[in-house]
Amino acid sequence: MKLHAVEVLYRERFGDHVLIRYRWTGTIPEPGQFVMARTATSRRGFEPFLSRPLFAHDYDGETLSLLFEIRGRGTALLASEEAGLLVSAPLGRGFLLDSGPVALVGGGVWVSPLKLLAKRLVRSGTTRDVYLEIPGTAPKAYAAWISENFPDATLVPTDGCKDPSQIVLSRLGDLTRYATVYASGPAEMLAAVKQVTAGTVPAQLATRERMACANGSCYGCAIPVWWRGERTYVRACVEGPVFPAEVLAW
Ligand SMILES: Cc1cc2nc3c(=O)[nH]c(=O)nc-3n(C[C@H](O)[C@H](O)[C@H](O)COP(=O)(O)OP(=O)(O)OC[C@H]3O[C@@H](n4cnc5c(N)ncnc54)[C@H](O)[C@@H]3O)c2cc1C
Ligand code: FES
Repeated sequence: MKLHAVEVLYRERFGDHVLIRYRWTGTIPEPGQFVMARTATSRRGFEPFLSRPLFAHDYDGETLSLLFEIRGRGTALLASEEAGLLVSAPLGRGFLLDSGPVALVGGGVWVSPLKLLAKRLVRSGTTRDVYLEIPGTAPKAYAAWISENFPDATLVPTDGCKDPSQIVLSRLGDLTRYATVYASGPAEMLAAVKQVTAGTVPAQLATRERMACANGSCYGCAIPVWWRGERTYVRACVEGPVFPAEVLAW
């Protein structure tokens, strides 16, 4: 996979959450597509060797942004001020746009791909409701930033809640008023969305299987799906990472 050296224009950090904006004049990202990203150099040479998958968060025609949480070495390096950035072109299959009305549901810090999706829906005049969880673990600055960046969203604080996904989903009310529910969140939230929408309303889920090659050759991102009545596996990096909920076999 070709990685492009890009110019980082902006970096902001809210605790363990990081926003990077870089100049991008290549292929326009579709909502729900991701890029593979790694630092251009590090003190330890090529470490980390593998790039990390991150959703395209926002795009304005000239700059593309990534919103991520520092989890381990790869994301910590990406967050460091002096690091140069290498990124792939946008990859994978994203969300299919519906004419609405639609609901967007984001869990925890996994809301990243919903920004670009919301923007495209606004442009196509689609009626949408956005529900975003603000977990207790999120830094205050991040919560403030989310409310600024998703001004129309219903923010659902879940500090101390036993089952955050259910708290967020209970805010949607009658699901039959929606033509599609789009979700990006932790596995528990995606499973909950799949369960509540089954047989009622189509849902599209942004999955996050761990990835290595991201070009379809290693099968490291295999995800179970139903295909012609059989349980089988497809590659999340090529056939996904967004899937219709009813296709996912979990
Ligand atoms: C298609 C796709 C899009 C993604 N988009 C985003 C995004 O927009 N913002 C964001 O914050 N993260 C996103 N992720 C997750 C991100 O890629 C991982 O957090 C990152 O690769 C961790 O790398 P690391 O070197 O920092 O941590 P590692 O040292 O590799 O791992 C640190 C910890 O994070 C866990 N972890 C690593 N990868 C994942 C994963 N895919 N899912 C769940 N847990 C994981 C590990 O089990 C470990 O506990 C996305 C993942 C995929 C597959
Ligand atoms: S990450 Fe290698 S096939 Fe998907």
